[in-house]
Amino acid sequence: RPEEYLLAIESSCDETAAAVITRDMRILSNIVSSQTDLHEKFGGVVPEIASRAHLERILPVIDDALKQAGITLNQLTAIAVATEPGLVGSLLIGLTAAKTLAMTLDLPLIAVNHIEGHLFACQMQETRPLFPAIGLVVSGGHTNLYHCSESFEFKLIGATIDDAAGEAFDKVAKILGLPYPGGPSIQKTAAQGNPKAFPFPRTFLKDPELRFSFSGLKTAVLYAALGNPGAKQQPPPLTEQRIADLAASFQETVVDVLVGKCRQALEKFGYSTLCVGGGVAANALLRERLAEMTDKAGVYFSIAPPDLCTDNAAMAAIAWHHLDQGRVASLDLDVTPGLVR
Ligand code: KG4
Ligand code: ZN
Repeated sequence: RPEEYLLAIESSCDETAAAVITRDMRILSNIVSSQTDLHEKFGGVVPEIASRAHLERILPVIDDALKQAGITLNQLTAIAVATEPGLVGSLLIGLTAAKTLAMTLDLPLIAVNHIEGHLFACQMQETRPLFPAIGLVVSGGHTNLYHCSESFEFKLIGATIDDAAGEAFDKVAKILGLPYPGGPSIQKTAAQGNPKAFPFPRTFLKDPELRFSFSGLKTAVLYAALGNPGAKQQPPPLTEQRIADLAASFQETVVDVLVGKCRQALEKFGYSTLCVGGGVAANALLRERLAEMTDKAGVYFSIAPPDLCTDNAAMAAIAWHHLDQGRVASLDLDVTPGLVR
């Protein structure tokens, strides 16, 4: 039987990405064209700029993915595309490219949920079925806990009531004058700082409900860094050491909360597997602490390598399962931009 190839396309936020994955989950190519440089000076993603950049890049990125995989369009079995959630203008570029290819090549078109892709990235490196598991997706837009079933159904069991963890990293970086995206720059700066310097609030850590909140933490960092307008005494000047201490204390706080809530979810539902995905899962301290916690708890821990945690198209290989179950989309497929659960 000849090899079967899936072309996966991802354009939900500010990464234009395409990948070729075989049916046995080998990643033959995984091209990611990041727009970080375009959005950097705004300290966050500007939707209009993102859509225009996707439009310019989508065809070259697909072309690169095929070339690097050493295949041509005619060898493809199916086309997958992330259609939710994300920025509407960004999603539409990927969807339009995917539809055009599916139509002209007469191939099945498969819609993928970007968040489910983040969790599936963990399964891709495993040789045995990973689910059932508790899943955590920590990204720029989401801090969600899931039940992940054997049949790849994902049920939301907890979420943030305000900012996502990645969003907090990005906003705190902006407060501290560190470059965008905030996650990597805070991680780097935190390495020189004292994580115990500032005892920031661990919101909801002891709360019986599975929920997160990071907006109070962001304000706490703001006040500690630049002062509270209502306070009589203002903080000392922001030296390099103080910035490093703030970054380290902030990172420590987020990691404490994420690890604590994962432990709580595992205990609450009696699961013995944890999988973690999304951009913040690239964080070295979080990876280390989750590994320690699960080790102590006797829980199997799966986390994708950092380049499969941040946005990419390879994780859309969950489409192979959709295809097996006959979940093929028609050409009137639309995007679902909102934070749909
Ligand atoms: O999954 P992702 O690439 O895009 C979304 O779906 O949102 O996640 C991006 C987020 C950003 O907020 C970024 O600051 C964060 O992931 N991030 C990190 C690290 N690398 C990326 N956060 C903490 N530590 C990192 N090393
Ligand atoms: Zn993502």
